[in-house]
Amino acid sequence: MKLTVIGTGYLGATHAAAMAEIGHDVLGIDVDPAKVDRLNAGDVPFFEPGLPELLRRNEEAGRLRFTTSYDDIGAFGDVHFLCVGTPQRKGEFAADMTYVDGAVSALLEVIRAGSVVVGKSTVPAGTAARISQRVERAGASLVWNPEFLREGFAVADTLTPDRIVMGSDSASAVETLCEVYRSILDTGTPLVTTDFATAELVKVAANSFLATKISFINAMAEVCEATGADVIDLALALSHDVRIGGRFLHAGLGFGGGCLPKDIRAFMARAGELGVDQALTFLREVDAINMRRRARMVDLARGLCDGSLAGKRIGVLGAAFKPNTDDIRDSPALDVALSAQQAGAAVRVYDPQAMGNARIDYPTLAYVDSAFDAAQGADVVLHLTEWSEFREIDPAALGEVVAERRIVDGRNALDRGRWRDAGWTYRALGRPYQGPPS
Ligand code: UDX
Repeated sequence: MKLTVIGTGYLGATHAAAMAEIGHDVLGIDVDPAKVDRLNAGDVPFFEPGLPELLRRNEEAGRLRFTTSYDDIGAFGDVHFLCVGTPQRKGEFAADMTYVDGAVSALLEVIRAGSVVVGKSTVPAGTAARISQRVERAGASLVWNPEFLREGFAVADTLTPDRIVMGSDSASAVETLCEVYRSILDTGTPLVTTDFATAELVKVAANSFLATKISFINAMAEVCEATGADVIDLALALSHDVRIGGRFLHAGLGFGGGCLPKDIRAFMARAGELGVDQALTFLREVDAINMRRRARMVDLARGLCDGSLAGKRIGVLGAAFKPNTDDIRDSPALDVALSAQQAGAAVRVYDPQAMGNARIDYPTLAYVDSAFDAAQGADVVLHLTEWSEFREIDPAALGEVVAERRIVDGRNALDRGRWRDAGWTYRALGRPYQGPPS
């Protein structure tokens, strides 16, 4: 089938390459000519494991290319995927719909009658019904088909999703999209077909649930710190209850990124508009717990530095909002690094992939080329993004370069015993304090 994909961010570029991989002819579009040139040259403009290989393989096979021209995509295909971003509106909680509305307007100028528009962007409930009226006036149909991919696993999540959700009032448009996904559906992937509003809500409900699960265990971490209990053992014990499960129950610095934080805020804003704000008041608490983790992290560092960060040296390991991505949107790591700097510390940051983005958005922080450079002369080291590279560090070797062997593990991901055995004072969120071995 001949498909087009509008928007070439983490979602759109991955979706375009994955659709080509399952045998379709795909034309992607982006308004940024530099991005399009890079993509056409087989170069992914962001870090996503496995995507460059997928992109190149399908470009070489002649199934995938990119353009900046809406005329091209109107002439190319009859199924058009909307994959543009819906960031948080500046100074507000609601989603910014500028890119979605702009893409729809441009597409409807060039679309052929009988085409299918597939919305994948995360949008406030009610958007699809609104867009559908415009799409129908152009003689086309709309399906809302939310995307659940995780950065770092975007390729696998697109080729082998947990489920496929389609919301539409057009049976034939749903049938067309089932044809697009035929090879994925044939492997037994669950399909839920529903109406527009439900399809839109599935996405924000899923992200709200995940955020709630993380903030739940982080709230338990706060209680653990007050009682001397250990949140890691607590989560382990909870995870054996199959009704609870262990995933997304990892206590630490909390969630960030381009989705969870802005999606729960946009969901609350939309609920307010719909007159059901009370139904989601709990998400305000989920957000508050999450943001408190960042402040607590700085407090732990301060506690290790005799009560003040002024004049102290801090080595920061991690800048990305989570490992295996270069995405720094709402990154807890960079938030903590900046707070520590504002408290008077000299901060040096290292991340395996996210330094380019971090330098642009956080230009006042100092960036160095390795974990050892970050830790050089440090009074305390902060582990803020759980890259495997950091787990593999030899604590004895790192201990040679720091001024003081003190580490705060913001991700509860380091081997506490190894660090203590190497003479480090190890602190973590939600775990009882034990000093260095005597
Ligand atoms: C998320 C959803 O998982 C995905 O389905 C949706 O499409 C987009 O939003 P993503 O933002 O890529 O994906 O990251 P995810 O892997 O879900 O992690 C979100 C954040 O939660 C990260 O900052 C991560 O560090 C944090 N997290 C995750 C925890 O703090 N604890 C956990 O147990 C799990």
